[in-house]
Amino acid sequence: MSISERDARSVWHPYTRHFDAPKFPVITGASGSYLHLETGEKILDGISSWWVNTHGHSHPFILNKLQDAAQEMQQVMFAGFTHPRAVELAERILALYGRGQGKAFFSDNGSTAVEVALKMAFQYWQNQGKRKCKLIAFHGSYHGDTFGAMAVSARGLFNEPFWPFLFEVQFIPSPIKGQAGVLSELSKLYALHGDEIAGIIFEPMVQGAGGMIFHDAELLNSVLSFVKERNGLIIVDEVMTGFGRTGKLFGSHHLQVPPDIACLSKGLTGGMLPLGLTLAADKVFAAFNSPELSRALLHGHSFTGNVLSSAVALASLELLLQDDTTENIRRISSSQREFSQRASHPLFHNVRSLGTLVAMEVGSGDGTYASPLKESLHQYFFERKILLRPLGNTLYVLPPYCVTDDELNYVHESILQLPRKLNL
Ligand SMILES: Cc1ncc(COP(=O)(O)O)c(C=O)c1O
Repeated sequence: MSISERDARSVWHPYTRHFDAPKFPVITGASGSYLHLETGEKILDGISSWWVNTHGHSHPFILNKLQDAAQEMQQVMFAGFTHPRAVELAERILALYGRGQGKAFFSDNGSTAVEVALKMAFQYWQNQGKRKCKLIAFHGSYHGDTFGAMAVSARGLFNEPFWPFLFEVQFIPSPIKGQAGVLSELSKLYALHGDEIAGIIFEPMVQGAGGMIFHDAELLNSVLSFVKERNGLIIVDEVMTGFGRTGKLFGSHHLQVPPDIACLSKGLTGGMLPLGLTLAADKVFAAFNSPELSRALLHGHSFTGNVLSSAVALASLELLLQDDTTENIRRISSSQREFSQRASHPLFHNVRSLGTLVAMEVGSGDGTYASPLKESLHQYFFERKILLRPLGNTLYVLPPYCVTDDELNYVHESILQLPRKLNL
């Protein structure tokens, strides 16, 4: 029996309607910008394998650091112990992120980084004897699939079975250009619930899974200043926007208002191993720094502070800061910007780019995640040996930084040929 057939018998896949799912292609290797299929074909990874892979697959520098670490130790418990790589990673990330972040809390992925941020935020207030149980989030937000992360994500198809279990969140419009009404919604919200609001959680500059919604930096700053002036905590989810994706090292580096809590994952390890970090400003940590155990953050996971994940994160950071990578980010950003300016077909709407990301809506039909166009777009690119996985009819390209000009041009040209080839 083939691997695909065995898979169909035994494996339950994420985000998958198995009822009529086709047999999945089998990936047997990956290097640089390419995934290698069992059939011998190579597929250009136009979305960095769910946005995690920053420097390309099987990067030899990261692999070497992984091997070195693995020979020393692989995993140690992180309560009551520490190890050099976790300490160094915390120091480096805090220095790089800046903006008043003083402590790094380790976890396993983007959703856990968000869960930890939510617990920090609610307990921050509780430890000071204040009951603030409401958070603000933007319409269309997505922050992960665990319960807290689902609660601060827009209500929709993906979390509908769990609505009765999700805590209450106040959703306001995203601060996109021309949406100044968001400020009056915010002040109405504060007039009604101001005393109960713990803070705001958002992705800085771009809401990724929600449909690559781009923010207006000035408007977002006004929203954040409003919340900050009223003592609300500013929680940034940089799971997608971190590590150069938006053209700056972190999405919040586009903004004037600094966060109190920041969530990192995905590109943190260059996409080689899972890891989450939640950064906290000194004032947040201070609220937990008490002789009473009940005021401590009593949260952890078996693999918290994993040695190998820390080692690859350090290696990935080292690569990120090299001049070559900075130049690649600049090169990809200008190619994506240039493409966004010439992709002018009536089928393409709201073509936009920020840093290494370009996005657009294709057609005018159903814009939801379940849009039937999603599958035909995916298929069209796969036949051209490109991996793109549209969010509904939102098509986007977010490549690893090793992608060459020729490879990126090939993706751009394939997009431009779409209307003719799909008869749209
Ligand atoms: C902004 C954001 N936050 C959180 C998550 C959840 O991360 P993970 O899938 O690693 O749990 C994602 C995943 O796509 C994300 O895009």
